[in-house]
Amino acid sequence: MAVLGEQDVAPREVPAVETKYRCIQTPIPVPESIPILRQLRRHEPASMSGQPPIVWDRAEDCQVFDLWGNVWLDWSSGVLVANAGHNHPRIARAMIEQIEYGLTHNYCFPSALRARLVERLVQLSPPGLDKVFLLTTGSEAIECALKLARTRGRKLRGDDKITIVTFERAFHGRTLGAQMAGGIPELKQWIVNLDPNMVQVPFPDGFRGGPETSFDGFLRSLDQQGIRPEQVAGVMSETYQGGGASFAPPEYIERLRAWCDEHAVVLILDEVQAGFGRTGRFWGFEHYGIVPDLICCGKGITSGMPLAAVIGRPEVMDLFGSGSMTSTHTGNPVCVAAALANLDVLAEEDLVENAREMGEILHAGLRRIAGRFSRHVGAVHGRGLVAAAHMVVPGGTEPNADLARQVVTRSVEKGLLLFNPIGYGGASIKIAPPLCMTEEPLREALGVFEEALGESV
Ligand SMILES: Cc1ncc(COP(=O)(O)O)c(C=O)c1O
Repeated sequence: MAVLGEQDVAPREVPAVETKYRCIQTPIPVPESIPILRQLRRHEPASMSGQPPIVWDRAEDCQVFDLWGNVWLDWSSGVLVANAGHNHPRIARAMIEQIEYGLTHNYCFPSALRARLVERLVQLSPPGLDKVFLLTTGSEAIECALKLARTRGRKLRGDDKITIVTFERAFHGRTLGAQMAGGIPELKQWIVNLDPNMVQVPFPDGFRGGPETSFDGFLRSLDQQGIRPEQVAGVMSETYQGGGASFAPPEYIERLRAWCDEHAVVLILDEVQAGFGRTGRFWGFEHYGIVPDLICCGKGITSGMPLAAVIGRPEVMDLFGSGSMTSTHTGNPVCVAAALANLDVLAEEDLVENAREMGEILHAGLRRIAGRFSRHVGAVHGRGLVAAAHMVVPGGTEPNADLARQVVTRSVEKGLLLFNPIGYGGASIKIAPPLCMTEEPLREALGVFEEALGESV
C-alpha cells in the first residue's frame, strides 16, 4: 500500500467562480482527478507531492486548464519558466518545424542551429561574456560554473585557491555541488561530509539576513571563518534569492565586484530565475549595474523546454580542452529551436518592458495588501514580475508556514494558481506570472489574493 501524501486530500466544496480569466466549477481537488493523484503518489517519490492537487491538462498564455472545466490564472509560470506565456504558438511551431525538418539530436557535433543560439546569447550578454556552454538544467549550469571557478583558482594559485563563497539561504539546485553551494542547512544534511572549502556568508536582504546590509558584513564573515581573500576561487549568488525574491543593495554588489577583481575571484551570478526578463530587465544583474564573470541561466530561456547555459569570459570558459567539458544533450535541437523562438517573442512582444510595467502594478498592489495585513505580512520583496510575500506570526518576524499554505490553498480554490510556499520556514508565497500578463487579469489576481489572505488570517 502506497503511503498517502499531501496530494491525497479529500475534495472540498468551494464556491463556483466564473470570470473572463478563471473558472472553478468542481470541488477541489476534482473528485475525478483523485485516481490520477493516487497513481502519481504510488509511483513517484514522496518528494513529488509538494504542489496543490490540481491536475494540469493544458496551459496557454497566462492560464492553466484541467480536464473538468476549471481554469486558473497563473501566478507560477510553472516554476518561473513560462516567461513568454505557456505554449506560445510561435515557440510551439518552431519546435514542430524542427522535428519535422529532421534533426532532434546531434550531441556536440556542429550544427548551424546551435551556432545561431550561442551567438544570439552572446549578443544579449554584456561585452566580454563571449562564450556560451549549453546544458539541460539549471543545476548542471551551476555545477559547471563551480568547476570552472575552482579550475581557474587552481590555475592561478594552486590548490590553496579553491574556496567557493556563497550565501546563506541560497538555492542553486539539488545536485551535489549545487546543494553544497546552497545556504539552506536542512537541504544538505544528507551530504554529511560537506566540502570545507565551500562556505556561506549572510545574504544582505535587511530582513532574514539581519539588519547588516553593508559589504563589511561579507568581509567580516570571511575573516571570522578564517578565510583569506587569496584562497577564494569564486563567489556565487543568485541575482535575487529565489526563496524570498530578495535583492542585495546595489552598493554591496558593486563592492563585491571590485573585491573579486582585486583578488582574482570569479564572480558567478545565478540567473536561473532572474534571467530573460523576469525582473523587468533582460538580466537581473542590470539592477546592480555590474557584470559577472559567469552567468548561469535556464528556466525562461525557452519558456518551456529543458535548456540551460553558462555564459562567460573566454579565459574562464576555455579552461577545459577539446572534448573535456561536454554533455549528452548540450544544445538539443528542439530546445534550441524553442530558445531562438522564445528570444524573438520576448523582443517582439516587448515582454521585458511589460514585466517592468506590470511589475509596478503588482508591487504597488502587494504593498497595499501588506499594509492592510501588516501583522501577518512581514515583508514583500521582488521586482518586475517576481515577488514574495513573507508570512509572519502576528506582530513579529517568525515565519508563519500555516498561514502561507492556507493563503495558497484558498487562492487555488478561487482559480489563482500559486505553487506551495517556499523560502525561510516555508512561509514565503512566491508570485511569478508569465511576462505576458496584462493589467486586467493582474488586477483581478491581486483581488483574489487579497480575498484569500483576508479569509486566512
Ligand atoms: C536560482 C536557481 N538556481 C538553480 C536552480 C536549479 O535549476 P534546475 O531545477 O533546472 O536544476 C533553480 C531551480 O529552481 C533556481 O531557482
